Amino acid sequence: MPIFYNENTRIFKLDTKSSTYVLQVNEGGYLIHLYYGRKLPSTQGVEKLWFRGKYDSLSAQNPYVDDPYFSLDIVPLEYPCAGAGDLRIAALQVQGAAGDAVTDLHYVGHRISGGKPGLPGLPATFAKEGEAETLEIELEDKVTGVHAFVLYTVFENYSAMARSVRVENKGQSAVDLERVYSACLELPGMGFDCVHLHGRWAKENTVTRHALQYGMQGIQSKRGMTGPNHNPFMALAKKDCTEESGEVYGLNLVYSGNFAIDMEVDDRGTTRVLAGINPAEFRWHLEPGEAFTTPEAVMVYSDAGLGEMSRTFHKFYMDHLMRSEWTKKKRPLLINSWEAAYFDFDDEKLVEFAKAAKELGIEMLVMDDGWFGDRHDDLQALGDWYVNEEKLKGGLAHLIERVNALGVKFGIWYEPEMINPDSDLYRAHPDWAVCAPGREKSLSRYQCVLDMTRQDVRDNIFQQMFDVISKNNIEYIKWDCNRHISEAFSAQLPPERQGEFFHRYVLGVYDLMDRITTAFPHILLENCSSGGGRFDAGMLYYSPQIWASDNTDPIERLTIQFGASMCYPASSMGAHVSACSRTDIHTRAAVAMWGTFGYELDPYEMTDEEKEAVKAQVADYHKYYDLTHYGDLYRLTAPTDDPFQCDWMFVSPNKGEALYTRVIMRKPDKPYQVAHLRGLDPDRLYRDEETGEVYSGAVLMYGGLDLSARTWDEQKDGACVVKHFIAQ
Ligand code: GLA
Repeated sequence: MPIFYNENTRIFKLDTKSSTYVLQVNEGGYLIHLYYGRKLPSTQGVEKLWFRGKYDSLSAQNPYVDDPYFSLDIVPLEYPCAGAGDLRIAALQVQGAAGDAVTDLHYVGHRISGGKPGLPGLPATFAKEGEAETLEIELEDKVTGVHAFVLYTVFENYSAMARSVRVENKGQSAVDLERVYSACLELPGMGFDCVHLHGRWAKENTVTRHALQYGMQGIQSKRGMTGPNHNPFMALAKKDCTEESGEVYGLNLVYSGNFAIDMEVDDRGTTRVLAGINPAEFRWHLEPGEAFTTPEAVMVYSDAGLGEMSRTFHKFYMDHLMRSEWTKKKRPLLINSWEAAYFDFDDEKLVEFAKAAKELGIEMLVMDDGWFGDRHDDLQALGDWYVNEEKLKGGLAHLIERVNALGVKFGIWYEPEMINPDSDLYRAHPDWAVCAPGREKSLSRYQCVLDMTRQDVRDNIFQQMFDVISKNNIEYIKWDCNRHISEAFSAQLPPERQGEFFHRYVLGVYDLMDRITTAFPHILLENCSSGGGRFDAGMLYYSPQIWASDNTDPIERLTIQFGASMCYPASSMGAHVSACSRTDIHTRAAVAMWGTFGYELDPYEMTDEEKEAVKAQVADYHKYYDLTHYGDLYRLTAPTDDPFQCDWMFVSPNKGEALYTRVIMRKPDKPYQVAHLRGLDPDRLYRDEETGEVYSGAVLMYGGLDLSARTWDEQKDGACVVKHFIAQ
C-alpha cells in the first residue's frame, strides 16, 4: 500500500516506486509539509524537516502551537491559508459573512481509500482499486464553517501523484472563495531552475529554463483558455539536473482555463509553489451547503533528469488520463483539407482529394473549416452548424458515401464555442455572445465567444452537432477554438457571481465535450486552438490528440514538439507533413513521425517523386506506429541547445527496437559527428536495418553512432538521418 499513517506521530508517508512525500498534522492541527524527494525507507527523523530557523519579531506567533520556533509565516504547509499569520502567497482565501478574509484551517480527520474518486464536471486522472490509493484530509475553518478536503492520489508505479481540493461551506452564512489553488509544493531552498513552456501563435511550447529569484514569479493565463503563451506546466529542477540525471519536480494542471503557477521565494530562501485556477478575475460564491472542487494538479518526481520526468508523464497520461478508446487503438492516417484548399472546396474537390489520398495509402479525409452555413471565409457563419449544400451538392451524407466508397474514412471540423456576428445564430440570439453590459464587443478573427456557462447555449450547439454527426458516417472531429475571451460576463449570472464566469466557461466546454464524446464514443476527437493554443491535460482527457501548431515548417516544429514533449506524449501531438518548402519531404515526414503523423497538402500538387516518397512514408507510419505511439522517448539534442542539429529517439518498452532521428538545422560546424544513443540495453546487439551493421547497445550509447557525413547532401540544411535498430 503506498499510503502509510502513523497514529502516534500523525505522519503520513506517500510512496511511489521512486519517491516519498511526507506530511504531518502538528499539535495545532496544522498540516505541515515535511519532505518530497527520493524514496525514504522510513520516516525516522523526518519530523525535524519543518524547521526553518527562528522567525523574526515581525512574524506572528501562533496561538495554537506552544513552540517558540513555530510561526505559520515560516513553516512549510500543505495547504496554506490567508491572513492568520502566514503572510506568504496563500492557496486558500475565504471571505466570510463579517467581510474579513482570514482563513485558518485545522485538521478534523482523514480517510484512505483504494482507487481514485472522479472530480465532478472536471477532467481528471482515473484509477481503479489496486491501481492507486487516495488520501483525503479534512480541514476546518471554525469561524466560517468552511471545510477543505485536501486530496492526494498516489500512483505507486509511476512516481506520480494527483492533487485537488474540495471546499464545502458547512457554516450558517454564505462565503466567497477569493482564491482556491489545487496544490501547494514547498521546496526546501531556492536552488532550483524553473523549466516551462512559453510561446505564441505558431510558436508554441518553447522551453525556457531560468533560476528562481527572491520574491514572486510565475506563469499564468487570464485569457479564458490556457493559450499558447504559457503552458500550464512547470518543472522545478535542481541546478545540476540535466536531461538524463538529477532531481526534478514536474507539475502540470489538468485544466484548460485561467490558471496560475505562482512561486514565492521568501526571505529565508525557501520556495512555495502554488498551482491552480488563477485567482485574478476569480471569485466563487458558496451558499451554506454548497461545495467547490478545484481542478487537478499532477506532480511527477524524477531523480533521473527531465527525460525520465517526461517519460513518466507520457506513460501516466496514456494509462490514467486519456480516456478515449483511441488512446491505445491504432488511429487512421489522415489528410486534412486546410492547407490544401482553405475555404475553397466543394464536394467534387473533396472526392478528388480522397481518390488521391487512397492511391497514396492514406486512410481518412478530414474536411476542415468552410463546410457549414454561409461560410466562405472567416467573416461569417460560425454557430450555423448545418451543411452548406451549395458547396457540398447532394449533401454531406452523399459526399461521405462517395468518400467511403473509395475506402476512405471521413472526418469533420467544428468550432463549437464560437459565433460570428454575421450568422443566423447571432441574429436569433445576440445575447449568447459574451459581452459585458454597455461594452462594445471586441472581435477577434471576426468572431465572438459563445457564453458556454449557459445550459441553453450548450444545448443548442449540442443539438446542432448531434443532428449532423448522428446522420452521417463521421469518424473524426477536429474541435477548434480560435479566440480568447474579452468583455467577460454572463447574462445568466447575478452580479455577485460574475467572478465565476471564467471557471464556469471551462466547465461548460467540458460539459459539451463530455456530451459529444459520450454520445459518439467511437469518434476520434482532435483538439485544436489556432494550432496548439489549448494543448493541455484537461483537453487530453477527452481527445487523445491535439493539433500541436499551425506552424508546419519542420524546423520550426522541432522546438514546438520538443517543448510539448516535456509532459505530453508523442501520440498526442498532432503533426502533419505539409507543402512547406524549407526542407524536402523526407525531413517533413521524419519530424511529423514524432507525433500523430498525417498530411496537410494538396496531393495534386505533388511531384511523382514526392508521391513515391509518401507511399514509403505511409508504410513507415504503420511499421513504426507502436514505437512512436507507445515507445519511450529520449531527447538527445535540444533544438535550442545546438544551433546545428536536433535529435531524438524512440525505444520500444522491451528495448527490442529503436528509431533514431536527426535533423540538420544548419550545416554542422565540424565534419566529425557522433550520436550517443540512449535507452538501449547495453548487453544486447542491435542491427542497423539500413546498413546491416551490428553494434552492442553499449557501443551505440557509450561509444556512439558515427554520423559524419559522406556526401554533401547528407549535411545540407534541412537534411535528416533516420535509423531503425532491431535487437538480435
Ligand atoms: C485554426 C486551426 C487550423 C484550421 C483553421 C480553420 O487556425 O488551427 O488548423 O483548422 O483554424 O479556420
